[in-house]
Amino acid sequence: MIATAIRDATVVDGGGGETYVADVGIDDEGRIAAVGDVGPATTDVDGEGRVLAPGFVDVHTHDDGALLAHPGLAFKLSQGCTSLVIGNCGFSAAPARPGRQGRDLLGLRPHWEDLDGFAAAVEAKRPACNAVALVGHNTIRHHVMGMEARAPSAAELQDMRSHVARAMEQGACGFSSGLVYQPGRYSHTDELAALAAEAAPYDGVYATHMRNEGDRLLEAVEEALTISSQAGVPLQISHHKAAGRRNWGRVPESLARIDEARAAGVDVTLDVYPYTAGSGPMIQYFDLDDPDPELAESIRLASCPAFPHYEGRMLVDVAAELGVAVTEAVRHVLSAPGGERTICIQFVMDEADVIANLAHPAVMVGSDGIPDLEGRPHPRLYGTFPRVLGRYVREQGVLTLADAVRRMASLPCERFGLVDRGRVAVGDWADLVLFDAGTVADTATYDEPQQEAAGIGAVWVNGRLAFDHGRHTGAGAGRLLRYRQG
Ligand code: ZN
Ligand code: CU
Repeated sequence: MIATAIRDATVVDGGGGETYVADVGIDDEGRIAAVGDVGPATTDVDGEGRVLAPGFVDVHTHDDGALLAHPGLAFKLSQGCTSLVIGNCGFSAAPARPGRQGRDLLGLRPHWEDLDGFAAAVEAKRPACNAVALVGHNTIRHHVMGMEARAPSAAELQDMRSHVARAMEQGACGFSSGLVYQPGRYSHTDELAALAAEAAPYDGVYATHMRNEGDRLLEAVEEALTISSQAGVPLQISHHKAAGRRNWGRVPESLARIDEARAAGVDVTLDVYPYTAGSGPMIQYFDLDDPDPELAESIRLASCPAFPHYEGRMLVDVAAELGVAVTEAVRHVLSAPGGERTICIQFVMDEADVIANLAHPAVMVGSDGIPDLEGRPHPRLYGTFPRVLGRYVREQGVLTLADAVRRMASLPCERFGLVDRGRVAVGDWADLVLFDAGTVADTATYDEPQQEAAGIGAVWVNGRLAFDHGRHTGAGAGRLLRYRQG
Protein backbone atom coordinates (compact mmCIF):
# COMPACT_ATOMS: atom_id res chain seq x y z
CA MET A 1 0.00 0.00 0.00
CA ILE A 2 1.15 3.48 -0.85
CA ALA A 3 1.31 5.78 2.17
CA THR A 4 1.16 9.07 0.27
CA ALA A 5 0.28 9.79 -3.34
CA ILE A 6 0.97 13.20 -4.82
CA ARG A 7 -1.42 13.38 -7.78
CA ASP A 8 -1.05 15.10 -11.15
CA ALA A 9 2.02 17.13 -10.25
CA THR A 10 4.39 18.51 -12.86
CA VAL A 11 7.48 16.46 -12.09
CA VAL A 12 10.86 18.14 -12.49
CA ASP A 13 12.86 15.07 -11.65
CA GLY A 14 16.34 16.48 -11.09
CA GLY A 15 17.88 15.04 -14.22
CA GLY A 16 17.77 18.39 -15.99
CA GLY A 17 15.64 17.11 -18.88
CA GLU A 18 11.96 17.03 -19.76
CA THR A 19 9.26 17.61 -17.21
CA TYR A 20 6.07 15.56 -17.17
CA VAL A 21 2.79 15.27 -15.31
CA ALA A 22 2.54 12.19 -13.11
CA ASP A 23 1.46 10.78 -9.78
CA VAL A 24 4.24 10.02 -7.32
CA GLY A 25 3.76 7.43 -4.57
CA ILE A 26 5.67 7.21 -1.29
CA ASP A 27 5.81 3.93 0.63
CA ASP A 28 5.82 3.30 4.38
CA GLU A 29 9.59 3.15 4.48
CA GLY A 30 9.81 6.67 3.11
CA ARG A 31 10.99 5.83 -0.37
CA ILE A 32 9.47 6.65 -3.73
CA ALA A 33 7.56 3.52 -4.71
CA ALA A 34 5.98 4.61 -7.97
CA VAL A 35 6.11 7.39 -10.54
CA GLY A 36 3.36 7.46 -13.14
CA ASP A 37 0.27 5.49 -12.28
CA VAL A 38 -0.10 5.17 -8.56
CA GLY A 39 -2.91 3.07 -7.12
CA PRO A 40 -4.88 3.89 -3.99
CA ALA A 41 -3.03 5.55 -1.14
CA THR A 42 -3.65 6.24 2.52
CA THR A 43 -3.16 9.97 1.94
CA ASP A 44 -3.74 11.84 -1.29
CA VAL A 45 -2.17 15.20 -2.04
CA ASP A 46 -3.35 17.26 -4.98
CA GLY A 47 -0.33 18.37 -6.96
CA GLU A 48 -2.15 19.69 -10.00
CA GLY A 49 -0.62 22.84 -11.43
CA ARG A 50 2.36 22.63 -9.13
CA VAL A 51 5.92 21.42 -9.53
CA LEU A 52 7.14 18.36 -7.66
CA ALA A 53 10.92 18.27 -7.39
CA PRO A 54 13.52 16.44 -5.35
CA GLY A 55 14.18 18.32 -2.10
CA PHE A 56 16.91 20.91 -2.37
CA VAL A 57 20.35 20.38 -0.90
CA ASP A 58 21.91 23.43 0.70
CA VAL A 59 25.55 22.64 -0.05
CA HIS A 60 27.02 25.46 1.96
CA THR A 61 25.69 25.84 5.47
CA HIS A 62 26.85 26.67 8.95
CA ASP A 63 23.97 24.76 10.51
CA ASP A 64 26.13 22.44 12.63
CA GLY A 65 24.98 24.17 15.81
CA ALA A 66 21.46 24.82 14.50
CA LEU A 67 20.89 21.07 14.14
CA LEU A 68 21.05 21.00 17.94
CA ALA A 69 19.77 24.47 18.89
CA HIS A 70 17.01 24.80 16.26
CA PRO A 71 16.34 21.24 15.08
CA GLY A 72 13.09 22.36 13.45
CA LEU A 73 15.29 24.22 10.92
CA ALA A 74 12.32 26.35 9.86
CA PHE A 75 14.56 28.65 7.84
CA LYS A 76 15.71 25.76 5.66
CA LEU A 77 12.63 23.57 5.45
CA SER A 78 10.47 26.52 4.38
CA GLN A 79 12.74 26.95 1.34
CA GLY A 80 12.24 23.36 0.23
CA CYS A 81 15.60 22.18 1.55
CA THR A 82 15.69 18.58 2.73
CA SER A 83 19.44 18.10 3.17
CA LEU A 84 22.28 20.33 4.34
CA VAL A 85 26.04 20.12 3.98
CA ILE A 86 27.55 21.28 7.27
CA GLY A 87 31.16 21.92 8.33
CA ASN A 88 31.91 24.56 5.72
CA CYS A 89 34.59 27.27 5.64
CA GLY A 90 36.85 25.14 7.82
CA PHE A 91 34.52 25.20 10.85
CA SER A 92 33.01 21.91 11.96
CA ALA A 93 31.44 20.37 15.01
CA ALA A 94 34.19 17.76 15.31
CA PRO A 95 36.82 17.23 16.48
CA ALA A 96 36.03 18.82 19.82
CA ARG A 97 36.96 18.75 23.48
CA PRO A 98 33.87 18.23 25.59
CA GLY A 99 32.98 21.34 27.54
CA ARG A 100 35.23 23.66 25.61
CA GLN A 101 33.62 26.12 23.29
CA GLY A 102 35.16 26.38 19.86
CA ARG A 103 36.32 29.73 18.56
CA ASP A 104 34.05 29.96 15.58
CA LEU A 105 30.68 30.90 14.23
CA LEU A 106 28.86 27.68 15.05
CA GLY A 107 27.93 28.51 18.63
CA LEU A 108 28.51 24.97 19.86
CA ARG A 109 29.02 23.65 23.37
CA PRO A 110 30.34 20.23 22.54
CA HIS A 111 29.81 17.18 24.72
CA TRP A 112 31.30 14.96 22.01
CA GLU A 113 34.80 14.38 20.69
CA ASP A 114 34.32 13.17 17.17
CA LEU A 115 31.84 12.97 14.32
CA ASP A 116 30.22 9.81 15.67
CA GLY A 117 29.56 11.59 18.95
CA PHE A 118 28.16 14.65 17.21
CA ALA A 119 25.98 12.45 14.97
CA ALA A 120 24.46 10.80 18.04
CA ALA A 121 23.74 14.22 19.56
CA VAL A 122 22.09 15.39 16.34
CA GLU A 123 19.95 12.30 15.87
CA ALA A 124 18.72 12.58 19.46
CA LYS A 125 17.33 16.02 18.54
CA ARG A 126 15.36 14.60 15.58
CA PRO A 127 16.21 17.38 13.13
CA ALA A 128 13.82 18.38 10.37
CA CYS A 129 16.41 17.98 7.59
CA ASN A 130 19.13 15.52 6.70
CA ALA A 131 22.73 16.62 6.92
CA VAL A 132 26.15 15.43 5.83
CA ALA A 133 29.34 16.77 7.37
CA LEU A 134 32.62 18.16 6.15
CA VAL A 135 35.46 18.20 8.66
CA GLY A 136 36.98 21.65 8.98
CA HIS A 137 40.58 22.77 8.82
CA ASN A 138 40.15 25.72 11.20
CA THR A 139 38.57 23.44 13.77
CA ILE A 140 41.24 20.76 13.46
CA ARG A 141 44.10 23.25 13.49
CA HIS A 142 42.70 25.02 16.54
CA HIS A 143 42.19 21.67 18.23
CA VAL A 144 45.81 20.63 17.66
CA MET A 145 47.77 23.90 17.56
CA GLY A 146 45.56 26.56 19.09
CA MET A 147 45.92 29.91 17.35
CA GLU A 148 49.61 29.49 16.54
CA ALA A 149 50.64 31.55 13.51
CA ARG A 150 53.26 29.14 12.19
CA ALA A 151 53.65 25.92 10.26
CA PRO A 152 52.89 22.72 12.15
CA SER A 153 55.66 20.44 13.41
CA ALA A 154 55.81 16.97 11.89
CA ALA A 155 54.01 15.59 14.93
CA GLU A 156 51.29 18.25 14.78
CA LEU A 157 50.75 17.64 11.08
CA GLN A 158 50.44 13.93 11.77
CA ASP A 159 47.94 14.63 14.52
CA MET A 160 45.87 16.87 12.23
CA ARG A 161 45.95 14.23 9.50
CA SER A 162 44.63 11.64 11.90
CA HIS A 163 41.65 13.88 12.69
CA VAL A 164 40.76 14.17 9.00
CA ALA A 165 41.12 10.41 8.57
CA ARG A 166 38.99 9.68 11.63
CA ALA A 167 36.19 11.96 10.43
CA MET A 168 36.27 10.39 6.98
CA GLU A 169 36.08 6.96 8.55
CA GLN A 170 33.03 8.16 10.47
CA GLY A 171 31.19 9.31 7.36
CA ALA A 172 32.38 12.85 6.61
CA CYS A 173 31.99 13.81 2.96
CA GLY A 174 35.29 15.66 2.83
CA PHE A 175 37.61 18.28 4.22
CA SER A 176 36.85 22.02 4.22
CA SER A 177 39.00 25.10 4.62
CA GLY A 178 38.35 28.77 5.32
CA LEU A 179 41.63 30.44 4.50
CA VAL A 180 40.68 34.01 5.34
CA TYR A 181 39.91 32.97 8.89
CA GLN A 182 42.13 32.32 11.87
CA PRO A 183 43.87 29.97 12.34
CA GLY A 184 43.48 28.58 8.80
CA ARG A 185 45.08 31.64 7.25
CA TYR A 186 48.41 30.72 8.89
CA SER A 187 48.68 27.53 6.85
CA HIS A 188 50.58 27.01 3.62
CA THR A 189 49.47 25.12 0.56
CA ASP A 190 51.45 21.98 1.45
CA GLU A 191 49.76 21.65 4.84
CA LEU A 192 46.37 21.81 3.19
CA ALA A 193 47.33 19.30 0.50
CA ALA A 194 48.63 16.89 3.15
CA LEU A 195 45.38 17.12 5.10
CA ALA A 196 43.09 16.94 2.07
CA ALA A 197 44.99 13.83 0.97
CA GLU A 198 43.52 12.02 3.97
CA ALA A 199 40.13 12.31 2.27
CA ALA A 200 41.40 10.69 -0.93
CA PRO A 201 41.07 7.02 0.11
CA TYR A 202 37.40 7.76 0.76
CA ASP A 203 36.96 9.78 -2.44
CA GLY A 204 36.04 12.73 -0.24
CA VAL A 205 35.96 16.31 -1.52
CA TYR A 206 38.04 19.36 -0.70
CA ALA A 207 35.67 22.30 -0.19
CA THR A 208 37.29 25.67 0.20
CA HIS A 209 36.55 29.23 1.15
CA MET A 210 39.62 30.34 -0.71
CA ARG A 211 42.46 32.43 0.62
CA ASN A 212 41.33 35.44 -1.37
CA GLU A 213 38.06 36.39 -3.06
CA GLY A 214 39.10 39.86 -4.18
CA ASP A 215 42.32 41.25 -5.61
CA ARG A 216 44.03 37.85 -5.66
CA LEU A 217 41.04 35.72 -6.66
CA LEU A 218 42.77 34.03 -9.57
CA GLU A 219 45.83 33.14 -7.49
CA ALA A 220 43.53 31.66 -4.89
CA VAL A 221 41.81 29.54 -7.55
CA GLU A 222 45.26 28.26 -8.58
CA GLU A 223 46.04 27.33 -5.00
CA ALA A 224 42.75 25.46 -4.67
CA LEU A 225 43.42 23.57 -7.91
CA THR A 226 46.95 22.73 -6.70
CA ILE A 227 45.69 21.40 -3.37
CA SER A 228 43.08 19.29 -5.11
CA SER A 229 45.54 17.82 -7.61
CA GLN A 230 48.28 17.19 -5.03
CA ALA A 231 45.81 15.54 -2.70
CA GLY A 232 44.01 13.64 -5.45
CA VAL A 233 40.55 14.81 -4.40
CA PRO A 234 37.74 16.63 -6.20
CA LEU A 235 37.40 20.35 -5.56
CA GLN A 236 34.39 22.39 -4.45
CA ILE A 237 34.91 26.15 -4.55
CA SER A 238 32.65 27.70 -1.94
CA HIS A 239 30.59 30.85 -2.49
CA HIS A 240 32.45 31.80 -5.65
CA LYS A 241 32.64 35.59 -5.96
CA ALA A 242 34.72 38.65 -6.83
CA ALA A 243 34.64 41.01 -3.85
CA GLY A 244 35.44 44.70 -3.96
CA ARG A 245 34.42 47.15 -6.66
CA ARG A 246 37.74 47.04 -8.46
CA ASN A 247 37.35 43.27 -8.90
CA TRP A 248 33.83 43.30 -10.29
CA GLY A 249 33.60 41.41 -13.55
CA ARG A 250 36.27 38.89 -12.63
CA VAL A 251 33.89 36.00 -11.95
CA PRO A 252 33.74 35.12 -15.68
CA GLU A 253 37.56 35.10 -15.75
CA SER A 254 37.69 32.79 -12.79
CA LEU A 255 34.99 30.56 -14.31
CA ALA A 256 37.01 30.42 -17.55
CA ARG A 257 40.01 29.11 -15.60
CA ILE A 258 37.78 26.54 -13.94
CA ASP A 259 36.32 25.49 -17.30
CA GLU A 260 39.86 25.02 -18.59
CA ALA A 261 40.65 22.77 -15.61
CA ARG A 262 37.41 20.84 -16.10
CA ALA A 263 38.20 20.35 -19.78
CA ALA A 264 41.56 18.93 -18.72
CA GLY A 265 39.77 16.39 -16.54
CA VAL A 266 39.96 18.09 -13.14
CA ASP A 267 36.86 17.38 -11.07
CA VAL A 268 35.85 20.85 -9.89
CA THR A 269 32.46 22.26 -9.01
CA LEU A 270 31.34 25.39 -7.20
CA ASP A 271 28.55 27.00 -5.26
CA VAL A 272 27.06 30.46 -4.95
CA TYR A 273 24.44 32.33 -2.97
CA PRO A 274 22.14 34.58 -4.99
CA TYR A 275 22.94 37.92 -3.32
CA THR A 276 25.45 40.73 -3.77
CA ALA A 277 26.30 40.89 -0.07
CA GLY A 278 28.32 38.45 2.00
CA SER A 279 28.19 37.91 5.75
CA GLY A 280 30.41 36.55 8.47
CA PRO A 281 32.21 37.20 11.75
CA MET A 282 33.28 40.84 11.46
CA ILE A 283 36.39 40.50 13.60
CA GLN A 284 37.90 38.16 11.03
CA TYR A 285 37.73 40.75 8.26
CA PHE A 286 39.52 43.68 9.88
CA ASP A 287 42.96 44.54 11.10
CA LEU A 288 42.07 46.71 14.09
CA ASP A 289 45.31 48.66 13.74
CA ASP A 290 44.41 49.65 10.19
CA PRO A 291 40.77 48.95 9.25
CA ASP A 292 40.07 48.91 5.51
CA PRO A 293 37.84 51.96 4.90
CA GLU A 294 36.26 50.63 1.68
CA LEU A 295 35.17 47.45 3.43
CA ALA A 296 34.01 49.41 6.49
CA GLU A 297 31.76 51.52 4.28
CA SER A 298 30.11 48.40 2.87
CA ILE A 299 29.14 47.02 6.27
CA ARG A 300 25.74 46.55 7.78
CA LEU A 301 25.45 45.02 11.24
CA ALA A 302 23.54 41.74 11.46
CA SER A 303 24.20 40.56 15.02
CA CYS A 304 25.85 42.98 17.41
CA PRO A 305 25.86 41.66 20.98
CA ALA A 306 27.77 44.70 22.25
CA PHE A 307 25.26 47.19 20.78
CA PRO A 308 22.03 45.41 19.86
CA HIS A 309 20.45 48.70 18.78
CA TYR A 310 22.96 48.87 15.91
CA GLU A 311 21.55 45.70 14.38
CA GLY A 312 20.15 46.32 10.93
CA ARG A 313 22.08 49.59 10.51
CA MET A 314 24.88 50.55 8.15
CA LEU A 315 28.15 51.17 9.92
CA VAL A 316 28.53 54.52 8.14
CA ASP A 317 25.29 55.69 9.77
CA VAL A 318 26.46 54.53 13.18
CA ALA A 319 29.73 56.36 12.60
CA ALA A 320 27.89 59.56 11.61
CA GLU A 321 25.76 59.35 14.73
CA LEU A 322 28.85 58.91 16.88
CA GLY A 323 30.63 61.66 15.00
CA VAL A 324 33.63 59.46 14.18
CA ALA A 325 35.26 58.09 11.03
CA VAL A 326 33.87 54.77 9.81
CA THR A 327 37.19 53.08 10.53
CA GLU A 328 36.89 54.28 14.14
CA ALA A 329 33.39 52.80 14.27
CA VAL A 330 34.92 49.44 13.31
CA ARG A 331 37.13 49.60 16.42
CA HIS A 332 34.27 50.85 18.57
CA VAL A 333 32.07 47.87 17.66
CA LEU A 334 34.73 45.17 17.70
CA SER A 335 36.65 46.16 20.81
CA ALA A 336 33.63 46.49 23.10
CA PRO A 337 32.91 43.51 25.40
CA GLY A 338 31.25 40.82 23.25
CA GLY A 339 32.29 42.72 20.12
CA GLU A 340 34.16 39.71 18.81
CA ARG A 341 30.80 37.98 18.31
CA THR A 342 29.57 40.64 15.87
CA ILE A 343 28.23 39.25 12.59
CA CYS A 344 28.30 41.70 9.69
CA ILE A 345 26.88 41.89 6.19
CA GLN A 346 29.18 43.30 3.50
CA PHE A 347 27.81 44.72 0.24
CA VAL A 348 30.83 43.89 -1.87
CA MET A 349 29.67 42.09 -5.02
CA ASP A 350 28.30 42.89 -8.44
CA GLU A 351 24.99 41.54 -9.69
CA ALA A 352 26.50 40.59 -13.08
CA ASP A 353 29.01 38.34 -11.31
CA VAL A 354 26.24 36.66 -9.32
CA ILE A 355 24.41 36.02 -12.60
CA ALA A 356 27.54 34.65 -14.27
CA ASN A 357 27.82 32.13 -11.46
CA LEU A 358 24.16 31.15 -11.62
CA ALA A 359 24.38 30.65 -15.38
CA HIS A 360 27.25 28.17 -15.11
CA PRO A 361 26.31 24.46 -15.32
CA ALA A 362 28.76 23.37 -12.60
CA VAL A 363 27.58 25.88 -10.00
CA MET A 364 25.36 24.63 -7.19
CA VAL A 365 23.46 26.71 -4.66
CA GLY A 366 24.64 27.14 -1.10
CA SER A 367 23.07 29.67 1.23
CA ASP A 368 26.05 30.29 3.54
CA GLY A 369 23.34 31.40 5.97
CA ILE A 370 24.45 32.05 9.52
CA PRO A 371 21.68 30.85 11.80
CA ASP A 372 22.07 33.46 14.51
CA LEU A 373 18.38 34.20 15.02
CA GLU A 374 18.94 36.85 17.70
CA GLY A 375 19.90 39.62 15.32
CA ARG A 376 19.04 40.47 11.73
CA PRO A 377 20.79 37.75 9.75
CA HIS A 378 21.55 38.06 6.06
CA PRO A 379 18.31 37.21 4.21
CA ARG A 380 20.05 34.33 2.42
CA LEU A 381 19.35 32.29 5.55
CA TYR A 382 15.62 32.22 4.67
CA GLY A 383 15.52 33.18 1.02
CA THR A 384 18.25 31.53 -1.05
CA PHE A 385 16.46 28.72 -2.90
CA PRO A 386 13.14 30.47 -3.57
CA ARG A 387 15.14 33.49 -4.77
CA VAL A 388 16.92 31.38 -7.37
CA LEU A 389 13.58 29.94 -8.53
CA GLY A 390 11.69 33.25 -8.52
CA ARG A 391 14.13 35.96 -9.45
CA TYR A 392 16.67 34.09 -11.56
CA VAL A 393 14.61 31.30 -13.15
CA ARG A 394 11.16 32.82 -13.61
CA GLU A 395 11.83 36.53 -13.82
CA GLN A 396 15.21 36.70 -15.51
CA GLY A 397 15.59 33.33 -17.24
CA VAL A 398 19.24 33.06 -16.17
CA LEU A 399 18.79 29.30 -15.92
CA THR A 400 15.92 26.94 -16.70
CA LEU A 401 13.77 25.45 -14.00
CA ALA A 402 14.94 21.94 -14.88
CA ASP A 403 18.59 22.96 -14.70
CA ALA A 404 18.05 24.83 -11.44
CA VAL A 405 16.51 21.72 -9.88
CA ARG A 406 19.36 19.58 -11.20
CA ARG A 407 21.90 21.93 -9.65
CA MET A 408 19.95 22.30 -6.40
CA ALA A 409 19.28 18.57 -5.94
CA SER A 410 20.89 15.84 -8.04
CA LEU A 411 24.28 17.45 -8.67
CA PRO A 412 24.84 18.15 -4.95
CA CYS A 413 23.79 14.61 -4.04
CA GLU A 414 26.41 13.24 -6.43
CA ARG A 415 29.08 15.63 -5.23
CA PHE A 416 28.46 15.20 -1.51
CA GLY A 417 27.68 11.49 -1.62
CA LEU A 418 23.99 11.44 -0.66
CA VAL A 419 22.99 8.02 -1.90
CA ASP A 420 19.53 7.41 -3.38
CA ARG A 421 18.61 11.06 -3.15
CA GLY A 422 18.33 14.02 -5.48
CA ARG A 423 15.93 12.58 -8.06
CA VAL A 424 12.23 11.91 -8.32
CA ALA A 425 12.86 8.26 -9.15
CA VAL A 426 11.56 4.93 -7.93
CA GLY A 427 13.73 3.63 -5.11
CA ASP A 428 15.04 7.04 -4.06
CA TRP A 429 14.29 8.40 -0.63
CA ALA A 430 11.20 10.61 -0.74
CA ASP A 431 12.90 13.94 -0.09
CA LEU A 432 10.48 16.07 -2.07
CA VAL A 433 9.23 19.63 -2.47
CA LEU A 434 5.94 20.70 -4.02
CA PHE A 435 5.90 24.35 -5.09
CA ASP A 436 4.15 26.87 -7.29
CA ALA A 437 6.58 27.84 -10.05
CA GLY A 438 4.47 30.90 -10.84
CA THR A 439 4.65 32.46 -7.39
CA VAL A 440 7.67 30.99 -5.61
CA ALA A 441 9.73 33.88 -4.26
CA ASP A 442 11.93 34.92 -1.40
CA THR A 443 10.34 37.42 0.98
CA ALA A 444 13.26 37.82 3.39
CA THR A 445 14.91 41.22 3.09
CA TYR A 446 17.83 42.91 4.79
CA ASP A 447 15.32 44.82 6.93
CA GLU A 448 13.04 41.86 7.62
CA PRO A 449 15.24 38.83 7.14
CA GLN A 450 13.40 36.23 9.16
CA GLN A 451 10.54 35.65 6.75
CA GLU A 452 9.61 32.38 5.13
CA ALA A 453 9.36 32.30 1.37
CA ALA A 454 6.18 32.36 -0.71
CA GLY A 455 5.03 29.56 -2.98
CA ILE A 456 6.53 26.55 -1.21
CA GLY A 457 3.58 24.21 -0.65
CA ALA A 458 4.81 21.02 0.96
CA VAL A 459 8.09 19.37 1.83
CA TRP A 460 8.70 15.71 2.63
CA VAL A 461 11.85 14.45 4.31
CA ASN A 462 12.47 10.70 4.18
CA GLY A 463 8.84 10.31 3.14
CA ARG A 464 7.42 12.20 6.11
CA LEU A 465 5.49 15.41 5.62
CA ALA A 466 7.67 18.05 7.28
CA PHE A 467 6.21 21.33 5.96
CA ASP A 468 2.66 21.87 4.82
CA HIS A 469 1.62 25.30 3.48
CA GLY A 470 3.35 27.32 6.12
CA ARG A 471 2.92 24.84 8.92
CA HIS A 472 5.94 22.99 10.31
CA THR A 473 4.70 19.53 11.22
CA GLY A 474 7.54 18.66 13.59
CA ALA A 475 8.03 15.30 11.88
CA GLY A 476 11.72 15.35 12.77
CA ALA A 477 12.57 12.80 10.10
CA GLY A 478 16.04 14.07 9.19
CA ARG A 479 19.16 11.99 9.65
CA LEU A 480 22.87 12.66 9.82
CA LEU A 481 23.95 10.92 6.64
CA ARG A 482 27.25 9.23 6.02
CA TYR A 483 29.14 9.85 2.83
CA ARG A 484 28.14 7.44 0.09
CA GLN A 485 26.32 5.17 2.49
CA GLY A 486 22.62 4.50 2.06
ZN1 ZN B 1 33.04 31.03 3.73
CU1 CU C 1 30.61 29.73 4.78
